[in-house]
Amino acid sequence: ASTHTIAVLAGDGIGPEISAVATQVLREAGDAEGVRFNFEDSLIGGAATDATGTPLPDSTLEACKRSDAVLLAAIGGYKWDTYPREQRPERGLLALRKGLNAFANLRPATVLPQLADASSLKKEVVEGTDIMIVRELVGGIYFGQPRGTDTDSSGHKRAFNTMVYSEPEIERIAHVAFQLAQKRQRRLCSVDKANVLDVSQLWRDVVTHIGKQYPDVELSHMYVDNAAMQLLRNPREFDTMVTSNLFGDILSDEASMLTGSLGMLPSASISNDMPGIFEPVHGSAPDIAGQDIANPMAMVLSAAMMCRYGLDLPKVAQRLEVAVEAALEGGYRTADLMSPGMKQVRCSELGAILAEACHKSAIAP
Ligand code: NAD
Ligand code: IPM
Ligand code: MN
Repeated sequence: ASTHTIAVLAGDGIGPEISAVATQVLREAGDAEGVRFNFEDSLIGGAATDATGTPLPDSTLEACKRSDAVLLAAIGGYKWDTYPREQRPERGLLALRKGLNAFANLRPATVLPQLADASSLKKEVVEGTDIMIVRELVGGIYFGQPRGTDTDSSGHKRAFNTMVYSEPEIERIAHVAFQLAQKRQRRLCSVDKANVLDVSQLWRDVVTHIGKQYPDVELSHMYVDNAAMQLLRNPREFDTMVTSNLFGDILSDEASMLTGSLGMLPSASISNDMPGIFEPVHGSAPDIAGQDIANPMAMVLSAAMMCRYGLDLPKVAQRLEVAVEAALEGGYRTADLMSPGMKQVRCSELGAILAEACHKSAIAP
């Protein structure tokens, strides 16, 4: 049996609850395929700040670098929102992404047939939607210098951030996006704000230039405000999208509501030469933490992305995905997806259902 070492970062809020489900389900799916997972827990986020004074201890980053893949649940919480920036949970997550050079964040938003009724939009609008958002993850306004606060000449306090991209940063994310589009519907929409921002004009020029190497992919460009609208008007018009760090953050949360719940959206954050980070799109949901009612499906589907993109274990990935669909087919829903006629289950109950479904699912050899 092959053995894979996974750095598990449970983090804060609902993180430990959904992380427990993901490791349980991975273990079962692994058993069924003769694959062993060696889970190594490390601290990140507010939990790490409380224990060590920093949201990303060196020991955590080292454990992640040594691993075959990083499975991260979520970080953040009200308690730390007033801490100095360098001790805040979010800073730990950003440092981890930077530390592993995880520049390409893949955020698929797929409307499963079982959930076409669960969206806040009409079923006719969302059904069949299958979008891959490729978000640049280690550059742009999240990391640009200079940043900070100072005082202007009239003595008023100011704060500023810098949105900056270099040609190589845009080129590498564009290549990832074009290559993903080639395996999908061969349509790529690059989202920017080139009508206003210089950084976006460079983005558009570079993506257009790289596109010449991918003549089989139909490239289009859209301004981010229009893209936000088109996603709700006619989501099926999109196949693959590529965009900068901040725009991708916003558009992926928006796209999640097409699928019924933010609790359904997984992601993969990958580099060219280091272990990938696999994490749900959602956060630590402090408003429902500790109640065993969170939806663990985004986390389980992130584990599936880990198996597919990070570990080359497509059969284990498929078992997880089939288990999720089987549970939905069976009518099992956490509170975020509840509707009349469905069976409401707790996070841990859904974990047990998914674990069992992992064994049952008949996978073609
Ligand atoms: P959030 O994603 O945590 O929650 C937004 C809303 O969605 C909440 O009402 C929450 O209850 C709900 N929700 C989210 N995930 C859910 C799930 N799995 N099941 C059921 N409901 C779910 O966003 P927020 O409230 O803006 O942020 C809370 C904290 O999380 C902040 O500290 C933020 O910085 C952090 N955050 C972390 C990550 C991450 O770890 N990758 C991502 C986003 C936000
Ligand atoms: C996400 C989150 C993070 C981001 C925060 C918590 C730093 O919102 O993963 O989408 O903005 O990237
Ligand atoms: Mn976000």
